[in-house]
Amino acid sequence: MLSWIISVWTILVVAQCYFSEENYTEESKMHPPTVVLAIIARNAAHSLPYYLGALERLNYPKERISIWAATDHNIDNTTAILQEWLTVMQTQYHYIEWRPLDEPTSYVGEPGPKHWTNGRYEYVMKLKQAALNFAKKRWADYILYSDTDNILTNPDTLHLLMAENKSVIAPMLDSQSAYSNYWCGITPQGYYRRTAEYFPTKQRQRLGCYPVPMVHSTILLDLRKEGTKKVSFHPPHKDYSWPFDDIIVFAFSCRISEVQMFLCNKERYGYLNVPAKPHQTVEDDRINFVHLYLDSLIHGPPMYLSRYVHVPPKQSDHMGFDEIYLINLRRRPDRRDRMLWSLYELEIDAKVVDAVDGAALNSSDIKILGVDLLPGYYDPFSGRTLTKGEVGCFLSHYHIWKEMVDMQLDKVLIFEDDVRFQANFKRRLMRLVEEVEQVELDWDIIYLGRKKVNPEEEVAVENVRNLVYADYSYWTLSYAISLQGAQKLLNAEPISKMLPVDEFLPIMYDKHPNEDYKSHFPNRNLMAYSTHPLLVQPCHHAGDPEWVSDTETSTLWDDDNVRTDWRGSHKTLKGSQPPAGLQSATYKDEL
Ligand SMILES: *[C@@H]1O[C@H](CO)[C@@H](O)[C@H](O)[C@H]1NC(C)=O
Ligand SMILES: *[C@@H]1O[C@H](CO)[C@@H](O)[C@H](O)[C@H]1NC(C)=O
Ligand SMILES: *[C@@H]1O[C@H](CO)[C@@H](O)[C@H](O)[C@H]1NC(C)=O
Ligand SMILES: *[C@@H]1O[C@H](CO)[C@@H](O)[C@H](O)[C@H]1NC(C)=O
Repeated sequence: MLSWIISVWTILVVAQCYFSEENYTEESKMHPPTVVLAIIARNAAHSLPYYLGALERLNYPKERISIWAATDHNIDNTTAILQEWLTVMQTQYHYIEWRPLDEPTSYVGEPGPKHWTNGRYEYVMKLKQAALNFAKKRWADYILYSDTDNILTNPDTLHLLMAENKSVIAPMLDSQSAYSNYWCGITPQGYYRRTAEYFPTKQRQRLGCYPVPMVHSTILLDLRKEGTKKVSFHPPHKDYSWPFDDIIVFAFSCRISEVQMFLCNKERYGYLNVPAKPHQTVEDDRINFVHLYLDSLIHGPPMYLSRYVHVPPKQSDHMGFDEIYLINLRRRPDRRDRMLWSLYELEIDAKVVDAVDGAALNSSDIKILGVDLLPGYYDPFSGRTLTKGEVGCFLSHYHIWKEMVDMQLDKVLIFEDDVRFQANFKRRLMRLVEEVEQVELDWDIIYLGRKKVNPEEEVAVENVRNLVYADYSYWTLSYAISLQGAQKLLNAEPISKMLPVDEFLPIMYDKHPNEDYKSHFPNRNLMAYSTHPLLVQPCHHAGDPEWVSDTETSTLWDDDNVRTDWRGSHKTLKGSQPPAGLQSATYKDEL
């Protein structure tokens, strides 16, 4: 009887499983793995607001992350900034371990805070080891080390690295130079070795996750893997004979533990600042970092400030000029914003002037303005005459020269809105201005950015560093102009015999090769110089897919129906610049 009841009941239950309309709850999802984030900060007040901003935007549940944060040997506001952030964030992260040390502010025997003594190396190794011990003790699945000038702008970085399932992995970070956070080769003595793979990897010509002998600065360790049990930062292995440097000690430890390091460059993950040299200062670091930030605005994704730390406002100035103008087309607010953010970060105060929009000018407007074409002018490469964009551009510069003369401004600086500032821009320009004044140089214009037409060396100006007599040049990206220079340009009455402004200037300093054009301007006595190397470059290089010039895409000036296109002009295509990052390395030793 009982077995009969059970059988019937079983049949009913089974039947119900098959035929019932009842819906059963699915198994719930797994929590993501737990992570310890190790923050080791020293003199990082300049980068911390962006560093923390990137961390707080990481697309990973904060309740699965514990933070281990140490800071010491500071001469700046690092401790206060970190503390402010951690105080707010402690309710969001799983747990926070906070190890600040106010004293001492330097290491024994350290000539400056950018110097690395053995004592400093050892201390950093011990901190990294302490973070690792903490993570192991709390059975964390992963530990992420990230230096405080590494800005992980890609919010998916953690997920992307975890998905690779490696014991030790680093995201390739972009910098202002050839520097990055990996090596592709190592010498038998443990030093950096140049390899054929390095640049193709850095420039993303090869994409993937590669085994490498060294990753550093930002690394993720999977502590669930057997191998990572054995790796350590301190003390160095008993057989260790390589340089006493925390990253090399760790790479050696991985090698001896048979744990392979990997580098991933499938995506853009973020940026790292090129560290200042041992003899340099924290201020040098700050300036490098400002330029890294400016690059992030150009290449994207940009860095964002933390929402939870206070950033003191910047003090901008005119660098000794009477006015600084930024020429911007109203319909390009993207460019205006980028330039204004950049100038703000550089602590340069500029006035925006609305450019004359060539595309909005029709042929009757142009006649009313008194604009007439220079007889016989045509673009040497495309064979076309002036575009409306070029008319607008000319008028925009012309209005500034006129305002200068009306207001009797002694010297001004002009920027177009697509410039990329070279390393150390402000300091180098201020030094130049100072030296030009010291030698009482008589000048009309000084190019800060242009395209040199002839490859020959230009003559250097005596007693002023990094200044040459300008030869034939294209572009008007940025230049300084004196009152006397503006007056000379107005006196030439160029509106009634217009050609592109970047052709007009070389005519006025008598370096233009075309005798016909020159014959229309009898007083060609403009004194023109150029910085060497240049202090600004165009933001996007001609030939880059995203490169669009507002002057060269607009329609032909005297025919509203004809469209021209910048691709027709070799003026911008010829001799485009080397890749942005590689170039700045040349300037680094300058100051
Ligand atoms: C079960 O799920 C299906 C599909 O989602 C739905 O149409 C049905 O109404 C659900 N039945 C009950 C009893 O909730
Ligand atoms: C240091 O940082 C704290 C916290 O962000 C801030 O309140 C304070 O004004 C800063 N001090 C200086 C000198 O910048
Ligand atoms: C990750 O790698 C381990 C070996 O280290 C392997 O056993 C495991 O199956 C891998 N997991 C995935 C999801 O690929
Ligand atoms: C040219 O544009 C102006 C406004 O800028 C307008 O008043 C005028 O009618 C236009 N002329 C022609 C011929 O389209």
